[in-house]
Amino acid sequence: MQRIGVMTSGGDSPGMNAAVRAVVRKAIFHGIEVIGINRGYNGFIEGDMWPMNLGSVADIIHRGGTVLHTARSEEFTTPEGRAKAYSNVERFGIQGLVVIGGDGSFKGAKVFHDEYGLPVVGVPGTIDNDIAGTDYSIGFDTAVNNVVDAINKIRDTATSHERTFVVEVMGRHAGFIALKAGLAGGAESIIIPEKPFDIKEICNKLLRGVKRGKLHSIIIVAEGAASGLDVGKDINEITGFDTKVTILGHLQRGGIPTATDRVNASLLGSKAVEVLLEGHTNKVVGNRNSKTIFYDLEEVFDNKKELNTELMELANILSI
Ligand code: F6P
Repeated sequence: MQRIGVMTSGGDSPGMNAAVRAVVRKAIFHGIEVIGINRGYNGFIEGDMWPMNLGSVADIIHRGGTVLHTARSEEFTTPEGRAKAYSNVERFGIQGLVVIGGDGSFKGAKVFHDEYGLPVVGVPGTIDNDIAGTDYSIGFDTAVNNVVDAINKIRDTATSHERTFVVEVMGRHAGFIALKAGLAGGAESIIIPEKPFDIKEICNKLLRGVKRGKLHSIIIVAEGAASGLDVGKDINEITGFDTKVTILGHLQRGGIPTATDRVNASLLGSKAVEVLLEGHTNKVVGNRNSKTIFYDLEEVFDNKKELNTELMELANILSI
């Protein structure tokens, strides 16, 4: 294998640049050329691709977002779109592909391989951290820290006004961000898709808290579980508390990647090149118990990542 492609796809996440940098530099270290594909699968379809060298990834390890840009490609979901994409794979002489993204991006890579035989390796890159088989996906640590930083800021004004705040966070259909940031942020309640919630129970807990002198309360709501606005409205109606709602949205995806994200992204990007050079395909790299591993892409599609409900219990106990 003399030339590989690298792309970022799906929602961007902080640390993706560190992964791109690791892929490019590890490949060049092994004498392999690298083609960067811009804007996810759309870049393949339009031939928006370019040869990358050591300098192409200089000074990006500390930057959020992705220098290759990203997009969700409807056209790539069609056989015609994939045929156009593959004509550019041949034009640029790409012999293997590293896809940095979430499970949706991996599904596209697998179809691409199955239809055209292009060896593909996935690198988990999504703040949702919902990719089965790996403890960690790139961007999750920075996103959690973005949420905790926001909670810290909200806590100041919540205390000053003795208010209740509902904070809605991202995570798509998973509660990993909400759970970890809620525990770290000292939230009174954490609402996640993986666990049904009882708004009356949450309100009774808030009332008990105020009775024992709590000056404010913070409830974290994962977007996949409920709308923060609805939860805030219900709390206000049931308790009569002055309740405000903050929807953090896309700021969770930005910012300077943490050291954890940079190191993990570097390990995963480098491993992906190794896996390709060893002749594997339809694999995804990840980590389990601090080891960098690789495993079948099918494992991502066939399994739902389990949430550590111990953290849920702990959060409940510590916020009584
Ligand atoms: O998958 C990452 C993510 O940030 C989800 O948490 C969120 O629901 C989604 O992307 C938002 O997608 P978009 O950036 O296309 O609005």
